[in-house]
Amino acid sequence: MDRFFQKAALVTGGSGGIGSAIVERLLSEGASVLAVDINENGLAALQDRLGSRFEGKLRTKVCDVTKKEQVDESVSYGWAEFGTIDALINVAGGSLPGCPTKLLELTEERWDMIMDLNAKSTLFFSQAFFRTHIEKGTHGSIVNFASMAGLNPHAADRPHYAASKGAVIILTKHMSCEFAPLGFRVNAVAPGYCMSGDRIRALWKLRDEQGISQKLLQDIPMRRVSEPSEVAAVVAFLASEDASYVTGEVIKISGGR
Ligand SMILES: NC(=O)c1ccc[n+]([C@@H]2O[C@H](COP(=O)([O-])OP(=O)(O)OC[C@H]3O[C@@H](n4cnc5c(N)ncnc54)[C@H](O)[C@@H]3O)[C@@H](O)[C@H]2O)c1
Repeated sequence: MDRFFQKAALVTGGSGGIGSAIVERLLSEGASVLAVDINENGLAALQDRLGSRFEGKLRTKVCDVTKKEQVDESVSYGWAEFGTIDALINVAGGSLPGCPTKLLELTEERWDMIMDLNAKSTLFFSQAFFRTHIEKGTHGSIVNFASMAGLNPHAADRPHYAASKGAVIILTKHMSCEFAPLGFRVNAVAPGYCMSGDRIRALWKLRDEQGISQKLLQDIPMRRVSEPSEVAAVVAFLASEDASYVTGEVIKISGGR
């Protein structure tokens, strides 16, 4: 498949478990990709793993997605390198070690940190993406990262994480309405559990210790968690012209949960 022949994409959180799978998927479908992340070593490892295989099509840039200046610089860099950014994939996010699941233990600092990481970053990147396209009279598509926690949270989810992903969903729907007349499409994916890397493995170890892992798996009709490549496949569809009449949607990737 060459759905992204002569297309360019910017993937935030590009060195993470799901982000790097998306980078690889888009490159393998012909895209040029700018992967941004706060994790400099992770980006270097990504470049080592994929750079030579995709002959100069992968660029990386260190960026804290919660800092507007760094976001604007990253979007400008992508345009300078590729001449356009057809697809913006806002993957960077998550919750952080030590974040509580109990509402009454939630501090203002943790609330702000997670809202910034998941929701504000999505806003900043989307604003920069829309502004640049509108200045140039072009358009593109965005795929945002929500979560099943933002649609249907349960007690094992972190309340501020769930709220931040709920915000991503509503932002996605708002942006899709406001910008569809200008030719943009904006969708989101809501993954359930995905065994994406060390951060998530540590989370599941904690759930094992708490004795809740089996219960969580029993709630999934397919009785398993997903692989990052299964999330990347849906993202690639939404970002591609195959989804040319799809906007404002939140696609669950949840094994039927
Ligand atoms: N893995 C799951 O079970 C799951 C489920 C639902 C939703 N999600 C969402 O999928 C996305 C990817 O998650 P993942 O499982 O691949 O996690 P991950 O931790 O492997 O990837 C997240 C990436 O974001 C980067 N990042 C963190 N803070 C950043 C910052 N301030 N600036 C720039 N980059 C930053 C990290 O360095 C990392 O590379 C997240 O938005 C997460 O909320 C994951």
